[in-house]
Amino acid sequence: MNCMALILGIETSCDETAAAVVRSGERVISNIVSSQYAVHRPYGGVVPELASREHLRNIVPVVRAALEAAKIDYVGIDAVAVTQGPGLAGALLVGVSYAKALAFAVGKPLIAVNHLEGHIHAVLLERLQQARSATSVEGADAAAEDGLRFPVLALVVSGGHTHLYLAERQHESWTYRNIGKTRDDAAGEAFDKVAKLLGLGYPGGPVIDQLAKHGDVRAVKFTFAQIKSPQRDGKDNDQKKDQQLAGERFDFSFSGIKTAVLRYVETHAMQPQIEARRSALAAVANPKPDDYLALCDRQTLDLVASFQRAVVEDLVVKTLAAAQAYEVETLFVTGGVAANRELRATFEESAMRAGLPVSFPSRPLSTDNAAMIAAAAYPRFLARDFASGDFSAEAGLALR
Ligand code: KG4
Ligand code: ZN
Repeated sequence: MNCMALILGIETSCDETAAAVVRSGERVISNIVSSQYAVHRPYGGVVPELASREHLRNIVPVVRAALEAAKIDYVGIDAVAVTQGPGLAGALLVGVSYAKALAFAVGKPLIAVNHLEGHIHAVLLERLQQARSATSVEGADAAAEDGLRFPVLALVVSGGHTHLYLAERQHESWTYRNIGKTRDDAAGEAFDKVAKLLGLGYPGGPVIDQLAKHGDVRAVKFTFAQIKSPQRDGKDNDQKKDQQLAGERFDFSFSGIKTAVLRYVETHAMQPQIEARRSALAAVANPKPDDYLALCDRQTLDLVASFQRAVVEDLVVKTLAAAQAYEVETLFVTGGVAANRELRATFEESAMRAGLPVSFPSRPLSTDNAAMIAAAAYPRFLARDFASGDFSAEAGLALR
């Protein structure tokens, strides 16, 4: 079933206040993201209280800007969608409270969206957008048009998650099964922590992405531990097989590599240089890639390049092993870390060798945004799966 709908998406789960208008889960009409990087940068990471305060300050102007850019008013939208979780409790609460009040005031249905499902739908949104512009057919069946083959394996790799989901679609409804996750730090968190300990500020991912291309990826050897989990008895074969696969082959761990970088810094007496870089960067209001580069010697560039290569290889190898074990037909790679150039190139090359089609969101839709929230809400809009007035933000919301 297809039905035209303009959905206003609202996202406040972490450090971006975002609003977007998306038509029928497949066309971005407007997409506004107000980043709080400048607020959190002096602290080297997101400060939850400051994040909530900034969301409070920004939510009204950001939503207004999204509606203005879409050239519609509140009455013109068909539904309001908001991120329910996972994320920072206080930050989520701002978006959820605002969305509830708005939906009530304008008499529109409210749709609660899981942030991780949003990241997965960022890929779908752009696939559909491309398929539409190629065929310019309006109103045809989306599934037939984008040629998506199931099962889909989605790697959601961000500052808070490194999760592998098997995704299936039945009519308009999507289901997800987790077959792997990080046991400790998320990959994006590792980027951020390593950048912080090298005096490169926050957020670390985009800075390391820029600097890594100037270093030697073979300079420092990093290894990842094999992750094993106990096998449980008394389960049927399928379940047992899933547990075995999920535990032994597809879980991630990124806290070890962060410690290895710290050890390297200590044994190579890099601390004075790091302190000098930290103070020099603190004096620059909005540092550019060249500012960072000018403050890094070869040893730092090599360390950064080797770290990035190791993380990328681990993500690619484990994800492709999971894809093979579960015989998936399509691979999605999404979330903030999916903006990483080396990650995209390595996935593209390795997936092509494995004969597996891989899709990413465009780089602006890889990191947090509200277009993905509005897109993920569309199947729920069609199914009339609306949130009740008493639903609340859930910091630890799981995806199923
Ligand atoms: O999806 P996202 O915007 O927020 C969460 O849901 O966490 O992801 C943010 C994370 C941060 O850890 C950031 O450092 C990382 O994504 N990131 C990157 C890049 N751009 C953002 N990591 C590596 N390379 C990038 N280009
Ligand atoms: Zn995210």
